[in-house]
Amino acid sequence: MTTLNEPLHLGSGAPLPNRIAKAAMEELLAAPSQLPGDELRTLYGRWAAGGAGLLITGHVMIDGRAVAQPGDVVLEQGTPLEPFRRWAAAGKSAGGQSAAGKSAGGQIWMQINHPGRVIPKDLGGTTWAPSAVPIDAGGFSGMFPTPRPMTAQDIDETVERFAVTAQRARQAGFDGVEIHAAHGYLLSQFLSPLVNRRDDRWGGSLHNRARLLLDVTVAVRERVGAGFAVGVKLNSADFQRGGFDTDDARDVIKMLADVGADLVELSGGSIESLATAGSPADGRTLAREAYFLELAQQLVATSPLPLLLTGGIRRRAVAQQVIDSGVAMVGVATALATDPTLPGQWLAGGDAQVRPPRTRLRNRSLAAAAVQAVSSRQLARLAAGKPSRTPYSPAVALVLERAVRARRRRDYLKWHTATAREGVN
Ligand SMILES: Cc1cc2nc3c(=O)[nH]c(=O)nc-3n(C[C@H](O)[C@H](O)[C@H](O)COP(=O)(O)O)c2cc1C
Repeated sequence: MTTLNEPLHLGSGAPLPNRIAKAAMEELLAAPSQLPGDELRTLYGRWAAGGAGLLITGHVMIDGRAVAQPGDVVLEQGTPLEPFRRWAAAGKSAGGQSAAGKSAGGQIWMQINHPGRVIPKDLGGTTWAPSAVPIDAGGFSGMFPTPRPMTAQDIDETVERFAVTAQRARQAGFDGVEIHAAHGYLLSQFLSPLVNRRDDRWGGSLHNRARLLLDVTVAVRERVGAGFAVGVKLNSADFQRGGFDTDDARDVIKMLADVGADLVELSGGSIESLATAGSPADGRTLAREAYFLELAQQLVATSPLPLLLTGGIRRRAVAQQVIDSGVAMVGVATALATDPTLPGQWLAGGDAQVRPPRTRLRNRSLAAAAVQAVSSRQLARLAAGKPSRTPYSPAVALVLERAVRARRRRDYLKWHTATAREGVN
């Protein structure tokens, strides 16, 4: 039986020392000029000490004109690399734990992303998507402009930007990148028949809808070379009628194996279905604790690549159950915002667990935003060297987050205007 403590060998790069990954969490903590700074270094130092074999950063934007939130980090061609070197070093400062409980080469991968149509209007960014299909996210829909359909030139530029960001991540000392193709961002918009209404090479058949993701993966692999991990985060399903489903995921995983990906992280949902926190249709206990396990089990049998499953995992027994089902690695996000030391405790056989934040807010979109705001507050506290437990209710955390965002938005807009003037972008 495979245990959480066992190393995982991937097609590229050094083995991961154990089976626990810190999944990506957008930290919203960029220092001025959208760079990683002291706060991100402190945060990743704490997670590195926590024992996970792999730390995946929150999504880093490949294009400063198109950021999902004003506190996001941006890595482009002209971006200074030194702050990224220090960030990567912090993420490897302690190493993950191996079977012997010793520090043994924990890795840090940078998640790289383009949000496509998920760019709030008030950031004034370049909002493009496969087709001019606006976001339908209930009361939040008005926050996002109708996207402009991408031209062939936009698509080529996007492929090149993913490759440049990945290459520079390697130069900065990251051990791998994870291409974000889940949760309704640009690459997942192309995969979705609901958002992608194109009738050219990038629309229609699954192969065409996957073309951008595959071209990005090929370009990234070419640019980073061997000895560097390339993962892809993919939805096991969008949970929208007529959307990207598990059969699509099965085929796309095979396509990704053919173009040099090393691992696929399975998640689910998008801003429209809100199912990143679990499938609304699946009410069973285990499914509530490892949201996409059943879908992952359907994919394990045919997947030529190791799978990482993320969503809802907060207890060691559940993490072990996920591994028992044939999934190679478990990803934990929210719980590690509350307690960064969980992986080490689980690897030592302990049963430490954390309770997810809850809210009585009735509006589903608002409730999801409030629960996420609790995690964001916790990340900010960890990054400031404090204990993570936030004294705020989700509703209060949401109000605080909005205030912090307003300040960061002003800084982002200033930076964005200045870089546009200098022609950096
Ligand atoms: C505060 C926060 C920020 C997140 N940011 C990202 C992100 O940048 N990229 C990503 O792929 N997923 C992101 N997620 C989703 C998580 O990686 C994960 O898929 C989801 O939270 C379910 O796992 P969990 O139940 O362990 O939190 C974020 C989640 C939270 C709570």
